[in-house]
Order: sequence, then structure tokens, then C-alpha cells
Amino acid sequence: MIQTILYIHILSATAWIGGSLLLFALGILLRDREAQKSVYAHLGPIYGYFETFWLTLLWATGLVMFSYFGIDDVMLHAPSSDLAEVMSVKLLLVVLLTLFTVIHMIIAFRTHTTYRTPLQNFISRGSSMMIFLLNLIILWYAIDIRNLL
Ligand code: HEM
Repeated sequence: MIQTILYIHILSATAWIGGSLLLFALGILLRDREAQKSVYAHLGPIYGYFETFWLTLLWATGLVMFSYFGIDDVMLHAPSSDLAEVMSVKLLLVVLLTLFTVIHMIIAFRTHTTYRTPLQNFISRGSSMMIFLLNLIILWYAIDIRNLL
């Protein structure tokens, strides 16, 4: 059973990170402004629902494993152990990632196919850069947790 949960967790991580890497690459490599506008107009909403689905699954399966492996007890009773420390950092990073995702999505849905103020543009680009970087770091911590279990 727990193997299935881990399987879904890893599948969700590949879909979530893969999706964000692809969109990030599109933003840099697709130089034609009109083509970029059109791609984002069509792909944007589908991408938003796609990513929300996988991030929700990551949280759900992550919390199941968190409880199954008794990591809550480890964090409570041995807070300075390696496992508790690595898990705390991963959780903090995932909370930040989720916040940046919510901010990014609010702006994306509010301004879809309409004008964006320079501030909205800055926040949207900044949050997508943070999501990109956080993903790379979270993956590192995820492997560390596996090594410590
Ligand atoms: C963006 C969000 C997340 C990503 C990308 C992610 C990614 C991963 C990956 C790739 C693994 C497998 C590591 C390996 O097998 O070497 C893993 C394991 C794990 N994750 Fe996550 N995770 C995320 C969120 C969460 C959350 C929110 C929790 C808990 C609340 C969590 C708890 C765990 C646990 C306990 C393991 C170890 C399970 C095991 O190895 O048997 N993860 N994570």
C-alpha cells in the first residue's frame, strides 16, 4: 500500500516539476511575442488546472507518508535529529512553493488575455522564478528524506 502512495507521490513530482520546467523553458526559448501570447492564452488555463491537480496529490500523498513513517513523532520528540531537520526544511520550502503558486495563479487567472500592470508582471515573473528554483531544492531534500528513512 505505502509503495503505491510513494509511486503516486513520485509520479506527481515528475508531472509537477516537468510541467513547470517546460513552461519555464517556453518563456525563455519562445522569443516571438505573438506566438508566446497565443501559446500562453491557450495553454495557460489548462496548465493551471494540470499543475493544481499534481500539487494537491503531492500534499495528500506526502502527508500520508509523513504520518505512516511517524515523522510527526520524530519531529516532536527528536527535533534535532537529521530526519526532523531535513523534513522541517522540506515542509517549509513546500509551503513557500504553494504560496508562490497561489500568488502566480491569482494573477494569471485575473489577467488572462487582458492587460497586466508592470507590478503584476513583476510579481508573476518573480513567483514563477521562485517556483522553478524551489522545485530544484525540494527535490534534493526529498532524496535526503528517503536516505534517512
Ligand atoms: C512540491 C512538493 C513535493 C515534491 C516535488 C516532492 C518530491 C518527492 C520525491 C521525488 C520523493 C522521493 C524521493 C526518493 O525516493 O528518493 C519524495 C519523498 C517523500 N516526500 Fe515529498 N515531495 C513534495 C511534497 C511533500 C510533502 C508536502 C510532504 C509531507 C507533508 C512530503 C513527504 C515526503 C516523504 C515522507 C517522502 C519519503 C517517502 C519515502 O521515501 O518512502 N513530500 N518527495
